[in-house]
Amino acid sequence: MLQKLKQMNFVINYKRMWPFIRPFWFRALLSLVITIPIGSLDAVIALALKPFMDTVIIEQNGSTPWNLPLYVIPILIIGFTIVQSILEYAAAYLNTWTGGQISRELRRKMYNKLMQMDQAFFDAHTSGDLAQRFSADPGTACTGLLSNLKTFTTRIFSSITLICVLFYTSWQLAIIAIVVLGGALYPLAGIRRRIKDIVKKSVEVGAAGFTVFNETHAGAKTIASYNLQEYKRQQFNEILKQAFKLSIKNTQRTAWLSPMMHIVIAIGMAGAIWYGSYLITSKQITAGDFVAFMTSMLMLYSPIKNIGKNFTQVQQSFMAIERVFEMLDYDIPVKDKKNAIEMKHIKNNITFHDVSFEYKTDTPVLKHINLMIPKGKTVAFVGNSGGGKSTIVSLIPRFYDVNEGSITIDGTDIRDFT
Ligand SMILES: Nc1ncnc2c1ncn2[C@@H]1O[C@H](COP(=O)(O)OP(=O)(O)O)[C@@H](O)[C@H]1O
Ligand SMILES: [Mg+2]
Repeated sequence: MLQKLKQMNFVINYKRMWPFIRPFWFRALLSLVITIPIGSLDAVIALALKPFMDTVIIEQNGSTPWNLPLYVIPILIIGFTIVQSILEYAAAYLNTWTGGQISRELRRKMYNKLMQMDQAFFDAHTSGDLAQRFSADPGTACTGLLSNLKTFTTRIFSSITLICVLFYTSWQLAIIAIVVLGGALYPLAGIRRRIKDIVKKSVEVGAAGFTVFNETHAGAKTIASYNLQEYKRQQFNEILKQAFKLSIKNTQRTAWLSPMMHIVIAIGMAGAIWYGSYLITSKQITAGDFVAFMTSMLMLYSPIKNIGKNFTQVQQSFMAIERVFEMLDYDIPVKDKKNAIEMKHIKNNITFHDVSFEYKTDTPVLKHINLMIPKGKTVAFVGNSGGGKSTIVSLIPRFYDVNEGSITIDGTDIRDFT
C-alpha cells in the first residue's frame, strides 16, 4: 500500500509536467530511446570477454571464436565504446535542450502568474521563497525529472542485458548475484520518504536565509537607524545553524547507503568466487564464462553505489515540481469578473458600506466601516498606529477584497470593475 502511494506521487508529478513536456515530446523521447543502446552496450563488452578468455588465453591457439581474426575483439570493444560515447553525448545534449525549453516555459508561466498575484500572496511568501521558486525550482524540476528518467531507463536496459549475460554464462552464479542484489535493494525501500521532510526543510531554510539577506540589502537604512544589527545577526546565525543540522541529518540518513552497497557488492563477489571456483574446477563453466560473469556483475552492481545521492536528487526534483505547481495553481481570490467593466472617471464619490476586513481569519482589523468620500474632497485618517488607516486605503485599489459589506465608486461595486 505504502509502495503504491509512493508510486502515485511519482505518477502525479510526471502527469503534471506532461503539458510542458508535450511540445518537445519527440526530442524528450529520443533522448530516452538513445539510452537503450547505451545501457545495453555494457553487456556486449562483458560478453566479448568470454570467447577471448576461453580461446585465446586458455587454449592459446590461433583460432578465435567464430573464426574471426584476433584483432577483431579489441576493435569491437573500442568501436562499441565509441558508439556508446557518441550516443551518451547526444542524450546529454537532448536532455539539456528539452530540460532548458521546459524550464523556460515554466518560468514564463510563473512570471505571468506572479504579476497577477494579489497582495495576500505576497504577504504569505517571502522574497527568499519566491527567489527560490524562480531561480532554482524550475531547473531542478526539469533536469531532475529528465535526468532521472534517463538514468532510470539506462539502468533498466543495462540491468536487463547484464542479467541476461549472467544467466547465459552461469545460471547458478546468476542466482547468487541476483539474490544478493535483492538483499541490497531491500533497505532502500522507504528511504525517499525518510528524507522527504529533510529536503523540504532544507529548501525552506535556504529561502529564509535569502530573505534575511534581501531584507538586509533593502532595509540597510532601517537596520542602521534602529540598531537592529544584533537582531539580524542572531536571525541569520540561527538559519545557518539549522541549515548545517539539516545537511548533517541528510548525511546520517543517506551516507551509509554507499558503504553498505560496497559491502553487499563484496559479498556478491565473494559468493561468486567461492561457488565459481567450484564450478570451474568441476568443469561446469569455463574460465571465460567466469570472467564474463564477474565483469557483468560488477557493471550491474556499480550504479547502486551512488544510490544515496540519487535518492536525494529525486526527492529534490519532486519537491521542486510541487513548489512550481503550488504557485501555478494558486487560486487568486482578487481577480476580474467575466463581464467586469472599465472605470473611466470618478463622477461622484467613493463609498464604504458596512465594510469588515481581516488579513488573517479571526483577527478582525476593520469592523463595519461606513464612509462616503465625495469627489475632490481631501480626507484625513487619524488614529493610533496599527488602527487600520493604511488598510482602509489599500482596500480601494482592491489590493485585498473586503470580507463583508462593499465598496462602491459612483454606486458600482469595485469588484465589478476591471
Ligand atoms: N499585510 C498584513 N498582513 C497581516 N496583518 C496586517 C497586514 N498589514 C497590516 N496588518 C495588521 O492590520 C492592522 C492594521 O494595520 P494598518 O492598516 O497598517 O494600521 P495603520 O496604518 O493605522 O497603522 C494592524 O494590526 C496590522 O498589524
Ligand atoms: Mg499605516
